[in-house]
Amino acid sequence: MSGVVIVGTQWGDEGKGKLVDLFTEEADCVVRYAGGPNAGHTLVVGSERIVVRLVPSGILRPKVRCILGQGMVVDATTLLSEIDELTKRGHECLSRLVLSDAAHLILPYHTLVDGLREARPGGIGTTKRGVGPCYEDKVARRGVRLGLLRHPGRLREVAGSALEAWAPTIVALGGKVPLLDEVLLQVQAVAGRLVPLLADTGREVHRALAQKQRVLFEGAQGTLLDIDHGTYPFVTSSSAAAGGACIGSGVGPRAIDRVVGLVKAYCTRVGEGPFPTELHEETGQRLRDIGREYGSVTGRPRRCGWLDLPALRYAARINGLDAFALTKLDVLTGFEKIGVCVAYKTENGVTDEWPSEGVENVKPVIEMFEGWSETLGHARSVEDLPAAARRYVEFIEAQVGASALVISVGERRDETIARGPLFEVRTT
Ligand code: GDP
Ligand code: IMO
Ligand code: MG
Repeated sequence: MSGVVIVGTQWGDEGKGKLVDLFTEEADCVVRYAGGPNAGHTLVVGSERIVVRLVPSGILRPKVRCILGQGMVVDATTLLSEIDELTKRGHECLSRLVLSDAAHLILPYHTLVDGLREARPGGIGTTKRGVGPCYEDKVARRGVRLGLLRHPGRLREVAGSALEAWAPTIVALGGKVPLLDEVLLQVQAVAGRLVPLLADTGREVHRALAQKQRVLFEGAQGTLLDIDHGTYPFVTSSSAAAGGACIGSGVGPRAIDRVVGLVKAYCTRVGEGPFPTELHEETGQRLRDIGREYGSVTGRPRRCGWLDLPALRYAARINGLDAFALTKLDVLTGFEKIGVCVAYKTENGVTDEWPSEGVENVKPVIEMFEGWSETLGHARSVEDLPAAARRYVEFIEAQVGASALVISVGERRDETIARGPLFEVRTT
């Protein structure tokens, strides 16, 4: 087995950074396949804490190659400052970092439009990093691919026509249209450092797989934020679900041997949009405080609620999960009772499935579980968990129809119950 996808099953922030860093011990290559600087993946190793937005989360493992796939949108300034910060901290990365020349470049007018839209009523609560407008240009076939950095003349033409197309929107939103020359000056300032990192990454990934190297495809955001399968229109603009791994890195579905979904032991969401199990009162605040649920990128408080099983079963189906990793189980310590949504009440009765018309109007059916008071950070096997925590895990496994490959009980690498290798021969 050589191609494994790690994907978020909820609304992002499930702990992908920690788990990708952990699993990269077994990998030769990590490919980020979607999103851009809207992501914030936290890596905690010993006393060091690093949040990466664009650089793949395998970067702390010295021999691993890290690829930014063509499904990504790249903000050059963010990427370069991430590289500089990692290098300053002693994590040499330039020799191992490869950028797809087909990934798209986020330009100042994208960030401007994202910010202007969000400043108005009716914004969906984006991260304001220009991600949505950049993908809009991609689909409108006027986006600037990173490969154009090698061809300044052509770049001027493409960026010029994109800027022209955005100008009326910028004006209507009350903004000032930037000058093309100013935009190009900013691009020029970074191009020299980016061009040497560009490559046909689809071919690189294909070659790595052909040589039986172990390739980990790192998701960003989560299934419920996926442009097609998420809580549309309150979603991001890319294919965050596991299928995006093929599109966003340039390999066929047969390259994927295993799909592992990340499941936070409760739910969080940043920004607007439906969230059936959201807790508005004291319990939600308690989850936020104990779980330190504040955005890694924006610092915004994350909305918190109980685990949502219909949503999770939906994510298991959309992604074709083989297994899952349960994260932040330790955060539930001290709750006398822990709620789990087992079904939804809808206008047409009770259902345990994700309704195709969305979850705006559903009410959760919550089952309460006995909590536990023991801290879990020391647990290294399931037997170390208190009986109530074990029951909680087993219940989730039975409901999802997949087993927990990993149970994470703290933010550090070692605060983990590992129950098997990531890259193993598929048995089913
Ligand atoms: P990502 O976007 O999925 O990579 O997740 P984020 O990094 O945005 O948010 C997850 C947060 O939870 C980070 O601060 C992690 O350090 C932290 N974290 C990850 N796993 C665990 C865990 O098992 N327990 C606790 N307490 N924190 C965790
Ligand atoms: P990671 O990879 C949580 C959310 C935003 C907003 C919506 C659209 O760290 O899990 P965008 O800026 O993408 O146009 O915003 O998607 N969002 C995330 N929420 N984690 C993320 O990434 C997210 N990336 C985008 O809050 O609701
Ligand atoms: Mg995050």
